[in-house]
Amino acid sequence: MKRLTNKNIFRILIFLIVSNTGCSYDNIEEKYNRDSCELSNVSWNDDVSPIINNFCVGCHQGSSPSAGLDLSSYSGVKSSVDQETFSIRVNMARSNPLKMPPNAVLDSCIIEQINIWIANGAPEN
Ligand code: HEC
Repeated sequence: MKRLTNKNIFRILIFLIVSNTGCSYDNIEEKYNRDSCELSNVSWNDDVSPIINNFCVGCHQGSSPSAGLDLSSYSGVKSSVDQETFSIRVNMARSNPLKMPPNAVLDSCIIEQINIWIANGAPEN
């Protein structure tokens, strides 16, 4: 068995630091855990667009967006919504590896806002 030398303790410390840092999306869940959830008058400009900018465009934009899906504009989001993949991915169970986003947890308020906006016809309002 290996002795717990200073060098090994140092390695363990580095491992713990690296494994806890993760990516910058990790704390966004807390940012959105609020007391009130505004579900009336959900709009693209005030609600949905900021959510997508925070949680989706990190991967779904640019010259080679994930899955070839560019969510950086209203039209890109709308066509994904129309194909129903958008709603399916966002509403998947947390345990499903296909759930979007893969690197953060959307709180129930955000998911509800997205669903209401889609149910309203995903308007550019
Ligand atoms: C960390 C990177 C990352 C983030 C953030 C992310 N996605 Fe994805 N997304 C992927 C990858 C990679 C795929 C392709 C693999 C797969 O199908 O799961 C994908 C696939 C998809 C698909 C399926 C596209 C298709 O045509 O099959 C949809 C829809 C989608 N993402 C929506 C979203 C939405 C909505 C968000 C934000 C709420 C989001 N993604 C956030 C990486 C990401």
